[in-house]
Parts: sequence; C-alpha cells; structure tokens
Amino acid sequence: MSYLVDWNPATFGALEKRILLAEHRLHELDLFSDEGLVEILDRHPDAALGLSTMDRDSMTFEWRDGDRGGVSGETLLETVRRGQLWINCRQVMQHQPKLARLVDELYDELEAENPQFRAEDRTANLLISSPSAVVHYHVDMPVNMLWHLRGRKRVWVYPPFDTRVASLPVLEHVCCNKWSEEIPYDASYDTFAEVFDAEPGQLITWPQLTPHRVTNLDGLNVSLSTEHKNPAARRRLNVHQANYFLRNRLGLKPSSAEIDGWQAHAKQMLARGLRYAGKLLPNKPQPFAYPKSFVVDPNEPTGVRLLEGEAGQTAAPHLEYEIAGS
Ligand SMILES: [Fe+2]
Repeated sequence: MSYLVDWNPATFGALEKRILLAEHRLHELDLFSDEGLVEILDRHPDAALGLSTMDRDSMTFEWRDGDRGGVSGETLLETVRRGQLWINCRQVMQHQPKLARLVDELYDELEAENPQFRAEDRTANLLISSPSAVVHYHVDMPVNMLWHLRGRKRVWVYPPFDTRVASLPVLEHVCCNKWSEEIPYDASYDTFAEVFDAEPGQLITWPQLTPHRVTNLDGLNVSLSTEHKNPAARRRLNVHQANYFLRNRLGLKPSSAEIDGWQAHAKQMLARGLRYAGKLLPNKPQPFAYPKSFVVDPNEPTGVRLLEGEAGQTAAPHLEYEIAGS
C-alpha cells in the first residue's frame, strides 16, 4: 500500500528540484498516536535524543540544549504538550525498527516512481515539539523531507540556491563543519520566502541546502524528517568544500556552486583529495554545540529547569557573521 496521496509524475519530478507541497497518509498510522510516541520515547537512547528549549519569539535567537533527567516517555510527552520543548529523536533508522521500515518503504516508492531519484545514506529524525516551539533559520546538509503528522506549524522556505538568503561563504562554512547548520538570518529575507501552514498529512520538501525556519501554531507537533544523499547531493557538498579551500587557503573568489560540468567534477576531486590528505579539515573541526544547560522538569510551566551555573551560550557565535561583501 502507498502512503502517498494524489501524486502524479510532476509531483515525483519536483523532488530535489523545487519547493514541493504534497499529500501523504502517514499521520493515520497508530505509530504516531500518543501511545505510539510514548513507546518510541521509552525505547530511544539518551545519546540519540536531542532536547531543546527556546524563546517563544521566533525573532529572538535563544536556544538551549538539555537533558531528559530520566523521565518516562509518558511524562516527557505530557511535558512537551504543555511546555516549551523541542525533541529530536535522532537516528531512527538505528533505534526505531518500525519507523525504519516505514522510511525505507517511502523512499523505495519514491525511487520506483521516479527513476531519476536516488535516496542513499537514508536517515530520519522524529520531531516532537510543543505548541509554541520554534526552530530558527538553518539549512540541512543532506536532502531533507518534512512529513508533517500532528499539530499545525508555519514553515518558511527560502529560495533554493539563492545567495541573497545564504551566501556561498556561509554554505561553505556549514559544509566544512566549521559552523553548525544554523546560519545568519535577517528579517528582510522573509520577503523572498514561501510560507506554508502545514497540516497533518502534508509533506514539504525542498532542494538540498535550502534555508528554512519553523514556528509551531498549535497542538502537540509531530513530524518525521527524512534525509538522504545521492551522487549529486554528495557532489554539491564537495563543491562547497572545494570552494572553501579555494577561497580561504588560496585567496581565490569562486563564484559558482554549480554541480554539473567539468569544473564541478574537478572540485569534487579536489575536495576528495584534500580530505584524503587531511588538508581540508586538518583538525576534524566540530561545529559549535550548545552546552546542556537545562534538565526536563514536569513541574515547571515550560517543562524546563535551568541548571545552576549553566547559563550557557544561547546563540552560536557564528550567527554574528557579517554577510555584507561575502
Ligand atoms: Fe531543517
């Protein structure tokens, strides 16, 4: 049986090429009922469970990571429902066999219906978030598909491959792991955004490295975020990595992130060679990570208790990056 609703060749053909809104029926599965989510949360290992809180104002960049504090899946779900939390069950392909089967079925069908589409290196995250949670402006390095399941959320998707909203140097820093996937944002970018109020049963997807941000509108929000790569996606990352090297080590000014043509293939070889020689990322840099500055506390209105002496940094330093002239 198919989980896709009313897809036609144009829908399949838009994958990875354009911003796409389409319909699915994943939200009808028991897997995503309260009971299903509790089972997932009880099974998920702490090491792969991201817990975050943030300001309700989407224009105030404030983000904290925290600790589960040993609460049960049931308590965690209730705390998210009435608090200010964002939970990311990462690596579901490794830790959630039912979800892993589902993701494979979805991608297998997309591949079968569109011979141009290849989903390799499949990964997925289950996102469970409070009715007023916010996810700030960012890009994802793999190709990303957001299968919305419960609650309503507003999703701003900015024009793909557009240097007005994400300059080449910005993407190069992300692709070289110099920065996390959060990137500098300016409210003026919203002029260019497509805005979707996502309902359960809708999929929103976009080309690789397209900037986006999310504000939940109401209800407990649940979405399955699936990610994949393929030769073109890997080449895009390699091109940005090579451009980083050309710009920062050789003082050149690469102005193209094109992934077709001989230059793109030459850049891919350069990036692979540099990586092999340990020259591109000599010290295996780790992008900025938020310190764990809270613990989940069901007795707090936000569901969060800040740890004493752990005020923590609440914005990645690179978000102050000066975009002008880049
Ligand atoms: Fe994302």
